[in-house]
Order: sequence, then C-alpha cells, then structure tokens
Amino acid sequence: PLPVKREVASCSCKPSLLTPVSEFPSRMALPSLLSHSRTRSSVLREPLRQGGLRALLAPWDPPSVHPHDRAAERACTPPSTGSSPPPLDWTRLGSRTISSGAGMSLTQYGLTNHTLTSQRRSYWTLCPQHSSFGPPAEIATKEAQHSVDDSFGVQQRTFGSAAEPIQRNPDYSVLNSDDVSYFKSILGDNGVVQDKDRVAVANVDWMGKYKGASQLLLLPKSTNEVSKVLAYCDSRRLAVVPQGGNTGLVGGSVPVHDEVIVNLGGMDKIISFDNVNGILTCEAGCVLENLSTFVENEGFIMPLDLGAKGSCQIGGNISTNAGGLRFIRYGSLHGNVLGLEVVLANGTVLDMLTTLRKDNTGYDLKHLFVGSEGSLGIVTKVSILTPAKLPSTNVAFLSCNDYMSCQKLLLAARRSLGEILSAFEFMDRQCIDLAMTHLEGVHNPLPVSPYKFYVLIETTGSDESYDKAKLEAFLLRSMEDGLVADGVIAQDISQASNFWRIREGISEASVKVGAVYKYDLSIPVEKLYDIVEEMRSRVGDTAEVLGYGHLGDGNLHLNILSSKYSDNILAQIEPFVYEWTAGHRGSISAEHGLGLMKAEKIHYSKSPEAVQLMASIKKLMDPNSILNPYKVLPQSALSPEQGS
Ligand code: FAD
Ligand code: MLT
Ligand code: ZN
Repeated sequence: PLPVKREVASCSCKPSLLTPVSEFPSRMALPSLLSHSRTRSSVLREPLRQGGLRALLAPWDPPSVHPHDRAAERACTPPSTGSSPPPLDWTRLGSRTISSGAGMSLTQYGLTNHTLTSQRRSYWTLCPQHSSFGPPAEIATKEAQHSVDDSFGVQQRTFGSAAEPIQRNPDYSVLNSDDVSYFKSILGDNGVVQDKDRVAVANVDWMGKYKGASQLLLLPKSTNEVSKVLAYCDSRRLAVVPQGGNTGLVGGSVPVHDEVIVNLGGMDKIISFDNVNGILTCEAGCVLENLSTFVENEGFIMPLDLGAKGSCQIGGNISTNAGGLRFIRYGSLHGNVLGLEVVLANGTVLDMLTTLRKDNTGYDLKHLFVGSEGSLGIVTKVSILTPAKLPSTNVAFLSCNDYMSCQKLLLAARRSLGEILSAFEFMDRQCIDLAMTHLEGVHNPLPVSPYKFYVLIETTGSDESYDKAKLEAFLLRSMEDGLVADGVIAQDISQASNFWRIREGISEASVKVGAVYKYDLSIPVEKLYDIVEEMRSRVGDTAEVLGYGHLGDGNLHLNILSSKYSDNILAQIEPFVYEWTAGHRGSISAEHGLGLMKAEKIHYSKSPEAVQLMASIKKLMDPNSILNPYKVLPQSALSPEQGS
C-alpha cells in the first residue's frame, strides 16, 4: 500500500488563502467566498440589512478536516493521496497515487475495493477477520449464507425488495477446474483470483447488503482478454457479473449465486485527450477520481461527480447512467458519452468508439449500453466530452423553514443564478443530525436550530467578482423574501469541503446505523417531499426516515434506517413506495438503476410493451442470458415461453 498522508505542501494552492472563518475581520460583513485565486481583500464589506440577514456569517469553529478535499479538487491541483479515520468498521489497507492511468494494479485488487467517499481519497476494504462490518447483511441464497459464514461475520437474510429467495437458474453450468485452467491460459495466473478473501470482498456490495457466492474473480487487462473470457463463458453457459468499483447501491455489481465476477479494474489506461475539444478517451476501468484529476490538470472537468468517485469506474458510471452532483449543470451521460467500445455476450467486440459530436448514421447503439447495468455487454472503452474547468467556485449552505421555500429557492436560483448554478442539493434535518452523529470531522455550519430543511448551492463560473456578486445578491434577496432562514457562504476550500462532506456523507452515515432501506425516486418537485412525510407516519417509531437528494433534478433519495432489517418495517415500506411513485408518474429508479433490488419492480415505471421490448433486446444480444442474470428485467419477461 502507498502512504496515505496528505501534505499541504504538495498542493499548488497557497496556504495563506485557507484562512478559517473565525479569522475574518468582521461578523458584520457579508462574506464572499474565497475561491482559490482570490485574496481576502475581496471580502465585501457591505453592512447587512435589517431582519434575517445576520446569518450569512454564522459562528463556526474551523473544521478539523484537511482543506484538501472536494473543493480543492475543483480549484487546484490536488495532492495524490489522502487519509482519514476509518469511516466504517473496516480496515484500511492502502491508497493509490493519482496520475494518468494510475488505477489499481491487478495485485492491488481487493485491497482497494470498497472505497468510500471521494473527498477523503483513501481506500478501505473489508477485513475478513472482523466479526462484522457495516450493517447486518442480507443474504440471497443458501450458498451465499454458507460462504458468508465462511469468511465474514455477515448475519441476516432478506434484502428489502428481494425478500423472496431467488432460485439459481439450473441452465447455467457450474465452474470446474478446466474452466479455471482456460481462464489462466488467457489472463495469466494474476488475472484469475481464487483466493477466498479476495473473492469474498468482490462478492459483497458497498452497503454489505447483497452477497453472492462466486468462487472466481477475473481481472482482464485488455479488450481482447474480455472478448475471450465472454466467448468462453457463452460457449460453456457460465454466468458472469461485470463489476467496476462495486459502489452500486442496488445489488447489480455482485453475484446472486456463483456467477463469475469480471472486474474491469485492470483496464485503467487513459488512451488520449483532445485538449482543444475536451474529449477524453480511456479504458472502462479508470476510476472516476483519477480521470477528474487528469482532466483538471488539462483545464477541464469530468461532466459527472459523485460521492463514490474515489472507487467507481467510468465503465460502471456509464453502465448505471450515474447522475450525481453535476447533473443539473451538465446533464446525463447520454449527452456526454460520445463513443463506446463494448464486448457482447458472445465475445464480439462492438467498436462504437467515435469522438464525433454529431453522427446520425443509423441507430445510436451506444445508448443501449448507457444504463443497461452490465446486462447487454461489457463496456471496455469510453470517449466522453469534458467541459472546460472554470476558475471561480462558490458554495453556500442554507436552511429553509419549509419545503415550499426550498422549491421557491430552486426556481429563484435557476432564474437568478442562471448559467453559473452548478449544484442544488437538498437535505432534511434528519440528514444533518445523522451526519453530525456519524461523520467524523464535520461541523454544522449553522447554529443548531430547528430548521427543517437545508440546501447546498454551488456556483461555478468564469468571472470571479461577477459570480460572487451574483450569488450574494441572490442570497440577500432570498433572505428578504423569506425563502432562506439562515445560511453561510464558504470562505475557503476547507469550509466548502465541509459543506460538501455533509451532503456527500449521508450515504456513509446511513450505513452506520445498521439497516438501510434505500429508494431513489424521480418525482415532480412539488410532490417530492410528500412521500417522506407519508413514510414517516407509516413507520412511526420503528425507523428513521431521511429525505435528501438532487432537488434540481427532481431526484429524491429516501432512506429508511433502523438498527436491523425487519419484515415488519419492509411491509410498511413496500409496495407502498412503488405504488405511490407510480401514482405520481415518477420513476422508481432515478439514477441508481434497478440491479437486483428492483428487477421485478420495473413495471411500476415502464409499460408492459416497453418491458417486453427490453426483454427482446436482451434475448437478441445475450441469447444464453449469461450477462448479469437475475438483474434489471423481471425473470418472467425473460423466460423462454415469452416470445422474442
Ligand atoms: P459497480 O457498482 O461495480 O457496478 C454497477 C453496475 O454496472 C452493475 O450492474 C455492474 O454489473 C455494471 N458494470 C460495472 N462496470 C461495468 C462495465 N465496464 N461494463 C458493463 N457493466 C458494468 N450514483 C449516482 O447515480 N449518483 C450519485 O450521486 C451516487 N453517489 C454515490 C455515493 C456513494 C457514497 C456510493 C457508495 C454510491 C453512489 N452512487 C451514486 C452509486 C454508484 O456509485 C454508481 O452507480 C456508480 O456509477 C457505480 O459505478 P461502479 O464502477 O462502482 O460500478
Ligand atoms: C447521493 O446522492 O448521495 C447518492 O446517490 C448516494 C445515496 O443516495 O446513498
Ligand atoms: Zn444521488
């Protein structure tokens, strides 16, 4: 493992600019955010007006977190490594340097899996010796139960939606020693992992909620190797799970039974970067954060950003059509991915790796693979459009008294901030309480008061003073109009990163409670919080209900937390949550995908005709159904009796 200590000196930013808010000259000054290039003399000294406006400077201890995290990533060349105390009951084993093509090496695989949030950039993995980790896990099968008992202290069954045990499809072959020998002849000994501990890590998802019983982890290093592996598996009818960073939240990235795991982590090279047009071409196993660092050094940014970026891979992002924190500004991967190379189930390499902005020659097949969650092919190469990196970033952390104010604030932000708005994230008070309880080193930037809602607004633009003035004017107006109850603007990257840490840390804090029933819904914004309140009254004291998410995209994350999984709680949640969402013409998967959790629930959001067409496409492209079985589509739609 590489050293993990983060050095201030290794960053190009000037430490003198990282002044904590407590050292700012006056509490009566409206603070302006110091983005990296600005000096403290830029602090605006306009007196605050009467009534409600005091709060833009809240009393606040400087956060103890190191300033180099999320905001540093955006504003300066980041250091290559990081450190933080273990966020879960996991053992830290190492970290990676960040440089072009410097993803995990094959021998590191398994040591770098299960990474937590991006901003800490440290790498964590399960400790097989531990008697337990994270929440009580849910186990799908007898085999899984067996293998879990062998290697981890994972306890329970039931997995939220998939409470019914899923039968292994007997049509699949069972792995034998000839298969292993064949894989070794293609991938070499290092590319074929049978070591129990390493395979065990790859069998469990990030939440410790889904657990398979695979005996084999394959680590291809080239498209050709992926092609040979799939051609062989198809001919033998061995089921396969494509795996990236294994940060998926719906059980799509781990086996259900004994599927062979094909992890793309060894394919982590940057192939080219067109620094005129901002077009990056790379292998699918590149870790998102490494790509971010690479393109930022070239004056660009990745069009997507998410809390899992220290582990998730671009191939996994594309396969889940990940949304994340920049969606409001840069939109979906359907718009940003220019080309793909994909290996089909029978080993055929489909070269769609164009870098053209415009190409209307026939059906745009790459879109089939964006969001298909490894069920139609393995993504091996990617070309993606990267927007220009802009010099000025401001972050505000605000509170609102009611949900209506949050909605009005969103509309006002769109109107007033316009092109510089780059994030509009929303959390309820329960999220803040959870984050303060379970995340180390974070501080509530606002005085502890009974605010019901919190909003994080980020702006990114090209004109420092204009952007700052625009945000400040917007916030003053919003306070005068009563939309914002209280708020702060980050004065430096340390504060900005603390704000982001609160928002991005909610998933991590949630799993520390124990059981997480996690729902990811698209709902019209005006109705979005109703389901949280209804859910609260349904579950009563038996569970804690949190609502947060990407309000600007109409995407609610509904987490229901309890100390352990219980059929009673589940019965209060499902099918209500799906029926309610369908009743409001929402989506039961806004950005996380269907995976195993929601494969049988697709009909809540898609018509029977659409599901049938999807099943026909699946059968056409993967007639032996070897790719990611039991996931995405209902088993009934894929059964041989259903005509294709
Ligand atoms: P994995 O988890 O390994 O796999 C996900 C799915 O893609 C599986 O079905 C797998 O079979 C398939 N797959 C992976 N790689 C390939 C490939 N090369 N070819 C074909 N199929 C493949 N998601 C969001 O959308 N927005 C967020 O803001 C967000 N924040 C998160 C924060 C945290 C802390 C965590 C833990 C997760 C978050 N996620 C978020 C979910 C997750 O990070 C994303 O879904 C991510 O895109 C998954 O990438 P991965 O490389 O980890 O893929
Ligand atoms: C988020 O927005 O934080 C992610 O989608 C992860 C989650 O909801 O847990
Ligand atoms: Zn999200």
